[in-house]
Amino acid sequence: MDKEQKAFQIAIDGPAGAGKSTIAKKVAAKLGFIYVDTGAMYRAMALYFADHGVKAETAGKNPDLFKSQIETLADKPDVTLAYRDGAQVVLLDQKDVTGQLRTEVVSQMASKSSAIPKVRTKLTQTQRILARTHSVVMDGRDIGTVVLPDAQVKVYLTASVEERARRRYLENVEAKKRGVPKTEEDLNLELIKKDIAARDDQDMHREVAPLKRAEDAVLIDSSDMTIDEVVDAILDLVKKAGYVPEGK
Ligand code: DC
Repeated sequence: MDKEQKAFQIAIDGPAGAGKSTIAKKVAAKLGFIYVDTGAMYRAMALYFADHGVKAETAGKNPDLFKSQIETLADKPDVTLAYRDGAQVVLLDQKDVTGQLRTEVVSQMASKSSAIPKVRTKLTQTQRILARTHSVVMDGRDIGTVVLPDAQVKVYLTASVEERARRRYLENVEAKKRGVPKTEEDLNLELIKKDIAARDDQDMHREVAPLKRAEDAVLIDSSDMTIDEVVDAILDLVKKAGYVPEGK
């Protein structure tokens, strides 16, 4: 990055399954920025909680107990990102846990533990430090609203529940063909739709940092757009925001 040019920040928020990570990775590669998947950071914390005996069900059965269990542990783990061959890896206490973050146990725990303020404060701090020292494309739920309120480009990326469910279903069908184990639920379009609607509801209605469009975020509905069309739309916003690529 040019020393004269301050780190450039692109915030991409939106509901689960809108294609944020695919799009954010491509935009970052085009611009030579680092991609920060904040969901993966919440997942790494969740893995730590699960490995230390906390159960996601406790959040529903005894919310006060769940909160105190999480608060006791939240300060302990060190969650950082590293980049190997251009890809983001997540380090939990210096150990690469990238391959362990997409299980059902971790998803459930991340969804519950990310609602606890102490967890959010800790990760928000780490995310802000990253964005101060590097130009970033950061995706999540609260990037434009809480983490980087001064980001030069803010996008709220969404798609209809039907379209997001259809994409997830097709991904699962393809994964199964490659030999990745998939459950009956993973291959049932109606159940996937219900699951996405429930996650939307949870993300949008939690007390702390709920998913919502920042007032100054540009809304992109990708329901009828290709990945490249969305990437181009964002690159256009970056240009309009006055970003000058290195060497130009
Ligand atoms: O995007 P994802 O599914 O990997 O996110 C995992 C969980 O973390 C999900 O329940 C939403 C939550 N999350 C959050 O609360 N804030 C963020 N900035 C990113 C993710």
